[in-house]
Amino acid sequence: MSVTVIVGTQWGDEGKGKITDLLAREMDMVVRYQGGNNAGHTVVIKEEKFILHLIPSGIFYPKVTCVIGNGVVVDPAVLLQEIKTLQGKGFNCENLKISAQAHVIFPYHRDLDLAQEKNREAGRIGTTARGIGPCYVDKFNRRGIRIGDFFHEDIFRQKLEWNLAEKSFLLNNFYDYKVSYDADKIQKEYFEYFRAFQSLVIEESTSLINEAISKNKKILMEGAQGTMLDVDQGTYPYVTSSNPIAGGACIGAGFGPQEIDEVIGVVKAYVTRVGGGPFPTEISGEIGDLLRERGGEYGATTGRPRRCGWFDGVVLRHAAKINGLTQLAITKIDVLDALETIEICTAYECEGKVIEDFPTDLAKLEKCRPIYEDLPGWKEDLSKITDYRNLPLNAKKYIDRLAELAEAKVSLISVGAERGQVIRL
Ligand code: IMP
Repeated sequence: MSVTVIVGTQWGDEGKGKITDLLAREMDMVVRYQGGNNAGHTVVIKEEKFILHLIPSGIFYPKVTCVIGNGVVVDPAVLLQEIKTLQGKGFNCENLKISAQAHVIFPYHRDLDLAQEKNREAGRIGTTARGIGPCYVDKFNRRGIRIGDFFHEDIFRQKLEWNLAEKSFLLNNFYDYKVSYDADKIQKEYFEYFRAFQSLVIEESTSLINEAISKNKKILMEGAQGTMLDVDQGTYPYVTSSNPIAGGACIGAGFGPQEIDEVIGVVKAYVTRVGGGPFPTEISGEIGDLLRERGGEYGATTGRPRRCGWFDGVVLRHAAKINGLTQLAITKIDVLDALETIEICTAYECEGKVIEDFPTDLAKLEKCRPIYEDLPGWKEDLSKITDYRNLPLNAKKYIDRLAELAEAKVSLISVGAERGQVIRL
């Protein structure tokens, strides 16, 4: 077996891009299996920062086949821009393959995303406004347009017209969000994008992936967002519209669950969340600001400041259970270097009871208060350490505690954004 899945164990932004990039050099294939350009995976190579929204983070290695799987939703303008940017930096992207079954984001999806958020008043999700949710809605409602539809212009046109009529009516009349779409213009624009990357589109992405599995090739499934943003297992409705969890890889790439060998949970040493929704260990004030500034906690996609909080062991336990984590990759531990004392939430107190399992009922979750354990900080610069033995004792104790909470072994510790700033165990 040769399939490894990388998943975020929190609300996204755990540093999956860097971990994927690190592991990708040993891989034959990297596959994105869900989400779209709501993601922003950051990879720093020789002080140059790349933010990938759609293309798998293995693209920097020409020998690695990178697949945008059927479970991804693709905004063709964003994809083309990303390809061009990478080509401009010397990465030719010929190793990129795009599934014909991936769904396409249209302007009406972005408009619906904005209109629906405006309409929600209280309880806004705080989406990335990229049209992700409405595109998945069309997919599940069987109204979606897929990349493969570009091969059949008449079918494409029929689907486009139907969607434009439906969405114009909804936006203008229900949401009072004025739009006027021109089918010819949209078709022309979208076919121009498509023709520019047509040579990378493959009809049988699942065959390609399964063939690689049967040849025992090393394959990395790169999840976007995180477990707590999963539409089924996260803090619904404050979630994204796909399944970032490990099981989502089977659906969004098209292979059997028995093929998964390892599931690596990417665990940021503290927690952040961007957008609305519950966040039990959120901290405001000085320490929250310190984490945000030291960790550069601003959205890679939207630039929004991220909400910051102490490490939440209840969330990690939930992620370990839902994903079947076999390894942990701890990121951004260096951000905690400045702290005298570090708190870890190990359970919640809810109406006089101590609970260790993440509550699925949002009303109950809102009543939960974190129970913290204090751990002494290390007050030392970790950013240049590459050997586990050189870590200060208190940093080792912190790492051990996270592993204990997840009941999984730690295989990687990242101490900075650069490729080389990593400790392998
Ligand atoms: P959407 O995915 O744009 O529909 O947004 C739904 C929720 O998921 C919002 O709270 C977003 O801020 C959050 N979200 C979506 N993608 C990411 C991500 O890559 N990192 C962190 N949060 C995300």
